[in-house]
Formats: sequence, structure tokens, C-alpha cells
Amino acid sequence: MSVWDLARTRLDGLPGGEGRNIAFEAVDRHVAHGNGDRIALRFLSSEGAARDVRYRTLALDSNRFANGLDALGVGSGDVVATLLGRVPELYIAAMGTLKAGAVLCTLFAAFGPEPVRVRLAKGHVKVLVTTARQYRRKIEPLRRELPDLKAVILIDEALPGTCSWQRLMAAASDRWRIPATSPDSLALIHFTSGTTGTPKGAVHVHEAVVAHEATAAAVLTLGPGDLFWCTADPGWVTGVSYGIIAPLVRGATSVIDDGVFEPERWYRILHDQSVTIWYTAPTAIRMLMKAGDALARRHDFRTLRLAASVGEPLDAGAVAWGEAVLGRPFHDTWWQTETGAIMIANLPDAPVCPGAMGRPLAGIEAAVVERCGGPEEAPRIEPAAEAGELALKVGWPSMFRGYVDDEARYRAVFADGYYLTGDRVRRDEDGWYWFLGRADDVIKSAGRLIGPIEVESVLLQHPAVAEAAVIGLPDPTVGEMVKAYVTVKDGIAADEALRRDILAAARSRLGAATAPRDIAFHAALPKTRSGKIMRRLLRARELGLPEGDLSTLDESTPVTTSDSTTED
Ligand code: WT7
Repeated sequence: MSVWDLARTRLDGLPGGEGRNIAFEAVDRHVAHGNGDRIALRFLSSEGAARDVRYRTLALDSNRFANGLDALGVGSGDVVATLLGRVPELYIAAMGTLKAGAVLCTLFAAFGPEPVRVRLAKGHVKVLVTTARQYRRKIEPLRRELPDLKAVILIDEALPGTCSWQRLMAAASDRWRIPATSPDSLALIHFTSGTTGTPKGAVHVHEAVVAHEATAAAVLTLGPGDLFWCTADPGWVTGVSYGIIAPLVRGATSVIDDGVFEPERWYRILHDQSVTIWYTAPTAIRMLMKAGDALARRHDFRTLRLAASVGEPLDAGAVAWGEAVLGRPFHDTWWQTETGAIMIANLPDAPVCPGAMGRPLAGIEAAVVERCGGPEEAPRIEPAAEAGELALKVGWPSMFRGYVDDEARYRAVFADGYYLTGDRVRRDEDGWYWFLGRADDVIKSAGRLIGPIEVESVLLQHPAVAEAAVIGLPDPTVGEMVKAYVTVKDGIAADEALRRDILAAARSRLGAATAPRDIAFHAALPKTRSGKIMRRLLRARELGLPEGDLSTLDESTPVTTSDSTTED
């Protein structure tokens, strides 16, 4: 039996053989099995006591939310977005949306108004669940530009033109029958960034829960009785697949922390909550390492059975630090928004290979390839000699099924029965995969993918900016730092005041997590003869690396650098 079929046997399916729904597998079936009293979610915040939500309560509240959506005329295939911190309402809305047969799209609450607008519009979001503060700043001013947005539910206050969470929930029944759900029923949209154009809305189906279940068992060893802490924000795929769905499906208790990162607090959470399984990211690990071992050694992590990492390259030093200081090496895992679940990992029961992402899971066929021939929208591949692009044979249950309204972009990442990941890797003779870099210009900062175009288009909205190029520069803590290069319009003085003004404008539109940390003025940007900015050349020049193939460079636009200082 395949690993996927084995996982299917551990899941229930909807009563009456009506298919498989993520929320039923995550919540209701535990209640049906008599485990409704188990704690599903434990909310922590910087101030105040922990707040527990049991599986039964989550089942009833998400039924209410599903009924509330139904009352609003929202159902099968409609997109419901959240723009919330890590509060109980987010998790209730997530499960209720899936129970209603609607499609869940979680947005990162720290996004500025521009990334939020782009995603709401592109996702055809019909209902948004958010707070009054978020609504006033990011939604109200541009609601006219969002014709698909029919209802906004505010969890804290009621403002004109919105509905109140409390009222919606109070009026709704806590009984709900989940509609028949087929393996291809749409469940989730996760936005992710590419090199070109607007962000891509990767679409996932209910069948993905089979991969969530299988990987949560095989890689994270999650089960009832575990206290699991996934530090990723639910505005990103890790925070949904492993921050919401997988631990619930496996009947574990999730610790959810809404506080800000602070090393001492994080160590206290690991200790006080008796965390058994911890899933975090290299940027956080590096920040803990920076805070010094003495601080860590003041706590004990005796309950910790497994520590795992995802999202960026994890170096051998960080693995060893985990072993020395936490008593557990970090198990690196690799996957993407598009894969929906872990594909490559250092498995829990085998020695860790420090510095390697891991080996493909059972059920996953990986290959190292080069793209060759064929037009861009129909690439072909051949095996790579040693290093090349990581490709995955199609067919795992959590594979994305499309990019919203972008069929051509979807087709362009498949060749000869493989999904092309855009990551460059090396496979060694023992089958371990080593991350080399991205094949494209996408930036990875603090574990988050940032599309250069999304940042550049905001910079171009500044009246003084003529051209903009955005790249990632190596940073010892966050992996890559977003840096922008701009040329200014004729007659404008490229001075420090202007630099600060552009930075501030970018930050308020994009949010601090996406905005450039630094801007340098250039007299011109390197371009191809067809006028495309050569970000790779800009990066190579900035870092003093070989400039590579310059055959398409338009020499009429030489680069001159002016000084810039880094903004903290
Ligand atoms: C990209 C996917 C799926 C969770 C992360 C967010 C990079 C991911 C690793 C790793 C080196 C990694 C890749 C990948 N990445 N895991 N273990 N080592 N790089 O998903 O935002 O879609 O980002 O993150 O470049 O393509 P995402």
C-alpha cells in the first residue's frame, strides 16, 4: 500500500461516504471518536494567561461560522480571506470556511495596504474576516476597487458597512452538515511570489489533507498527547499546513503564540508549555543563537522530542547548536507553497545530515534536471549532471492545482510529468539533497518569499522615481535583505532626504516585512537590449561576483554607484 493510501486509512472521510473534508478530519472526527475534551489549541500572548480551546468547542464554533457564511450567501467555491493575528477567530474561521465548502485564503496581518489589495483582488475574495484597525487602514480606503468583496466581518467592533463577528456567531446554529467534498474540491489559496508580475495564488484541494496527515506522522511524529509549536504565521503556507491543519488532523495540541519574538520568552514557552515537537525557521534559530548560549542554558528542554526547521537554508552550525544547547539537532525539511506539504526531510528516526535539506519522503520522486528546448510555457527537461533544478514527479495529494487566473504560468512549471520547483540543488551519492539557491530572482527574507516586481511597482509610484530594481543581498540573520536601486527623474536631487522619503513611502504601502531595508541611487540600471532590468547583474556587481553571460546587456546604460547607508 502506498504511503498516501496508508494515510487515507487513518482518516475517516465524511459520514455517508461523501468524500473527505479537511475540517472534518481536523476537528469533527475527534469529537465523534470521543476525544472532544482534548485541547486543540492553546493561545499564548505577551500578556495574560493561556487560553485553551478544546476540539469540541472548535467543532461547534466552526459550525457556527459555517452557518454564518451560509446566511451571508457564501458557499461552495467562494473565497473567504482572513487578515488577523494569531487569535482564536482565525482558527474558527479557517475551519468554518472549509466546512462551508468555501475556499480559505489567509493573509499576513503585517502586510501593508498594497499587498493586501493585490491579493484580495486577484483572489476574488468575497468575504474578509479582520479587525476594525486593519479595516480602517487597509480596506476601507480602497473598498471601491474590490468589486468581489461582498462582506467584511470584524471580530472586535462593528463599523458601518461591515458585519459583527459576535452578532453573526450568536445568531448561528452550532449544528452544520458539511456538504459532500470531492478530492478535487477547492480548499485553500496561498499567495506566493514569483520573479515576474503580480503574486501567484496557488490553489489547493481538500485531498491535500492526505499529505498533511502522512507528513505530520512520518516527519514530525505528531500524535495525541503532543504539545506542538509551529512558529510560522498562519498568513503563510507553513502556518496553515503545519500551524493549523496537520496538528489538528493528528489530534495533537498546538501552542499558538501571538507575542513578538523575544529569545527569553521563546525559551520559556518551550519549557513552560512542555513542548514536545517544535517546527521553526532558520532566521529564528539564528536570532536565538545570537542571543547567546547562556540564556538558553538557563532553561531545560527535557520534554522536547523533535526540533525541525523549514523555509530557508539551515547550515550545519545551526544543526549542531540545536544538539548542543537544546539537546536536539534541528531536522531540516524542504517544501514550498506549491507542494502544500513537506517533500524532502531529515527523518526523525535517522541521523541528521547537517547542512542537507534531507532526502525525498517515501511517496515522493525527486529528480535533478535542467530545462532544455521547448517554448517557455512548455519547457522540456533532461537529467542534470550534478547540480540542477529540483523537480518532483507529479501526483502527490497536496500538489497545487493551479494559479488563480494564470493557466499559462501554471503550465510553465511542468515538464515531462514533473513539477519544476525553481530551486537549484545538488544530490550527493547517498541521496541527500543540498540547497544551492533559487533559479529565479525571488528573494527570501526571514523565511518569506518576496517578489521583486511587487516591491518595484510600489517604488515606481513615488513621484521622484524613474526606474527601480530590487534584489536580495546576503544577510547573516534574515538570510537575504531586500535592497532597492532606483534612478530618479530628470532634475530631481538624489539626496538623503529623498532616500528616506522613498523608504518611508515604501514601508507604509508594503509593510515593514516586505519593504526594502536600503535604497541606493544609481544613474542608470543594467538592462537587456529588450529593456528588462538585469537584477542578477546588479547583484553580482554589488557582491563582486562573476558577472556571467552579458550577451544581452545593453551597454548604453552603464552602472554608476553612489554611496548609500543601510537603514536599520
Ligand atoms: C522556498 C519556498 C514551505 C515552507 C516555506 C515557505 C526555500 C524552503 C528550504 C530549506 C533551503 C528552503 C526554497 C523554496 N526553502 N525550505 N529547507 N532549505 N531553502 O514556502 O514561501 O513557498 O518558499 O523556500 O527556495 O523554493 P515558500
